[in-house]
Amino acid sequence: MTSDDTGARRIRIGLLFGGRSAEHDVSLRSALTIIDALDPEKFDILPIGITRSGQWLSGGDPMRALTSASPMFHVGSGEESSDETLDASATSALVSQAGSSASMSVPNGITEAVDIVFPALHGPMGEDGTVQGMLELAGVPYVGSGVLGSAVAMDKAVTKTVLEQAGLPQVPWRLVTRKDWRRDPAGTRDWIATSIGFPCFVKPANMGSSVGISKVHGIDEFDTAMELATFHDRRIVIEQGVPAREIEIAVLGNDEPIASVAGEVRPRGEYYDYNAKYVDDTAELIIPAPVDADLLGYLQGLAVDAFKALDLAGLARVDFFIERNTDRVFINEINTLPGFTSISMYPMLWEASGVPIGELIDRLIQLALERHAERF
Ligand SMILES: Nc1ncnc2c1ncn2[C@@H]1O[C@H](COP(=O)(O)OP(=O)(O)O)[C@@H](O)[C@H]1O
Ligand SMILES: [Mg+2]
Repeated sequence: MTSDDTGARRIRIGLLFGGRSAEHDVSLRSALTIIDALDPEKFDILPIGITRSGQWLSGGDPMRALTSASPMFHVGSGEESSDETLDASATSALVSQAGSSASMSVPNGITEAVDIVFPALHGPMGEDGTVQGMLELAGVPYVGSGVLGSAVAMDKAVTKTVLEQAGLPQVPWRLVTRKDWRRDPAGTRDWIATSIGFPCFVKPANMGSSVGISKVHGIDEFDTAMELATFHDRRIVIEQGVPAREIEIAVLGNDEPIASVAGEVRPRGEYYDYNAKYVDDTAELIIPAPVDADLLGYLQGLAVDAFKALDLAGLARVDFFIERNTDRVFINEINTLPGFTSISMYPMLWEASGVPIGELIDRLIQLALERHAERF
């Protein structure tokens, strides 16, 4: 099919998945959900896999290549993995043969090969503005936020600074650089003792998936937490720990975004750590979350305000803490490319808000095309 075909030409979607972050496997599962939900009457899919070392695969069946290299899709760890492996083999029949020439050089050939890119990538080197910058240079429309919003939302400290400026509520926090910590550890310890106290959370500013995060119960655990966090990043966020319910809202749109119903995450363990997210998979998701109408309206308003403050586009999931006993609300963080697996909060929140996944993806593609047209 050539680009001057008119009429009912199918939109060619370059679906990016895998990637270099710790969320490589989640990305594969997100991509499988998206492939499943795309209407083959309307879309041709060009699958583009990115290996853990950053190599781009566009010929043959990159989904099969990446899932077969991934322990998560082999070790019999739960039903979902085996289902997805079956799905992975089925995808080769769905994807566009037109785009499967191994000679296409990615990313150089991307402009000719596709009409739009859906980066189903999570975490650094995918959700953080890097891939978005490359797609801007290539002049290709893409789903989700641009370079600025993606980069800001990936950095917990810059996000907090921008949200603070917009008057949005957050827990007390502070940025400490690796150099600050090495130069004056006593100063940082004193600050905690005299301000936020314990428990506190120590987080690398730029990771995601709870990687490198510690809940610190007392000063004796603090140095270990800082060593772990500074191993992962130069910039560390230290924040007050609040006993809280964790509530999430999905946002959809560009300049006039809308907010979904709320969902609640109830991790079984002490907090929503990496294990709870990806290993045990034991956290309970409650949709819609039991919150009264006033609180829901307030959270939806904050979610939209945060989305606008960070200049986001397309989609985002805004995560909140609701302090137990006081019901005080704090924004925890914002994910610009939230998980899109069949059991992920983002698509499930829209499903519960009356937007089934097929329609959700259609809207995201439409929003990407609109944003591209209005860019300057
Ligand atoms: N200030 C806090 N108070 C209470 N729990 C927290 C706090 N910060 C983080 N947590 C817990 O740690 C989890 C991961 O932290 P988060 O900032 O969301 O990092 P990530 O980007 O890795 O998801 C949260 O879902 C929550 O369970
Ligand atoms: Mg989180």
